[in-house]
Amino acid sequence: MALMDRRLLLVTGKGGTGKTSVAAALAVLAARQGKRVLLAEIAGERLSELFGHRPVGHHETPIQNGLSLIAIEPIDAAHDFLRSQVGAAVHRVIFQNRLFTLTMTAAPGLREVSTVDRLWDLTRRDRGRRKTVYDLVIVDAPATGHALAMLRSPATYGGLARGGPIKKRADEMASLLEDRTRTSVVLCALPEETPVNETLETAASLRDLHVDLGLVVLNRTRGTLLADDEADAVGALVPGALDDPDDGGGLAVRSAAPIVVEHRRARREERQQERLRAGLDDRVPLVLLPRRDGEVLRKDLGDLADELAGAAL
Ligand SMILES: Nc1ncnc2c1ncn2[C@@H]1O[C@H](COP(=O)(O)OP(=O)(O)O)[C@@H](O)[C@H]1O
Ligand SMILES: [Mg+2]
Repeated sequence: MALMDRRLLLVTGKGGTGKTSVAAALAVLAARQGKRVLLAEIAGERLSELFGHRPVGHHETPIQNGLSLIAIEPIDAAHDFLRSQVGAAVHRVIFQNRLFTLTMTAAPGLREVSTVDRLWDLTRRDRGRRKTVYDLVIVDAPATGHALAMLRSPATYGGLARGGPIKKRADEMASLLEDRTRTSVVLCALPEETPVNETLETAASLRDLHVDLGLVVLNRTRGTLLADDEADAVGALVPGALDDPDDGGGLAVRSAAPIVVEHRRARREERQQERLRAGLDDRVPLVLLPRRDGEVLRKDLGDLADELAGAAL
C-alpha cells in the first residue's frame, strides 16, 4: 500500500535529522496529489514560519491549497482529553483546583495520550459537520524516544482502566496506530555510524510495537565527485596532503586534496547507507535526500517533494 494512501504519518528521528523539513515536504507532495492534508507539529511552532505564515497555534488553519496546519499544544490537548473523559463540570472543578497541575505531572503519559487522542480525532472521517475531514494527517513528531512513548501511550493508558469509555477510547487509539493501512512511521536518519545504529534500533522498536515503518529518509547525503581510481591517483601523489588538506604538496595537489577528502567522506557515507539498507526489512523503502547548500526554506520544499516523489510514493 502506498505511503501517501495512509491516514496518519508520523515523521520522527533524532534531532536535526530533518523531521520538520521532511514532514513539510511530504505535506506539499500530498497536497499536490490533490489530497486534503493537515500538517501537525507538537509542542512548538516552527512550521508556520517555514511556510511564511503567522503562527496558527492549537487550531486547524488552512494555509495554502489543500494544506492546513496545526501546532498541537499537549497541555491544551490534555484539557480537551480530560473534558471528554470526565465531563465539563468535573473538568472545571479539577482545573480550578491546583490538583490539575498535579494531575499533569502525576499521571504518567497524560500528555502523550492526550496528543494521540487529538491526532486520532484529526484523522476521523466522521468529525461532524463543522470540522474538516482530512485525507492525510502528517505529524512533525518529537524526536525518537518521545515519539515511541507517544506510540506506547494508548496501551499504557488503556491498561490503567478496566473497562468503560476510557478503555474504549484507548483501544481505538491503539488500533489506529497499529493499523498499517492507516498509520505509518517515517524515520529520518543521517549517513553516519551512530544515527544509522539508532535508526535500526528504532525500526526494531516499531516492530515490537506492531507499528508500520513506511519509509526511511537518509538525509544530507553527498554524491561522490570522482571515480575511485581518480581519487586514488590524486591521493597517491601526496598522501600526507589528504590527512591534512591544508598542509602538503604543491599547489595542484593542495587544491585537489579537499576533493579527495570529500570523496572519501562520501564513500564512508555510502557504506553507512549500505549498512542501513541491509539492516532494514526489504519492503521498507529507503530514500536518499541530497545535502543542500544552506538551510531548507519554503522555496526548497517543492524540490524536496520532487525528490521524495521520485521514490514512487
Ligand atoms: N537535505 C538537507 N540539506 C541541507 N540542510 C538540511 C537538509 N535537511 C534539513 N536541513 C537543515 O538542517 C536543520 C535541521 O533540519 P530540521 O528539518 O529542522 O530537522 P529536525 O526537525 O529533525 O530537527 C535545519 O536547519 C534544516 O534547514
Ligand atoms: Mg524539527
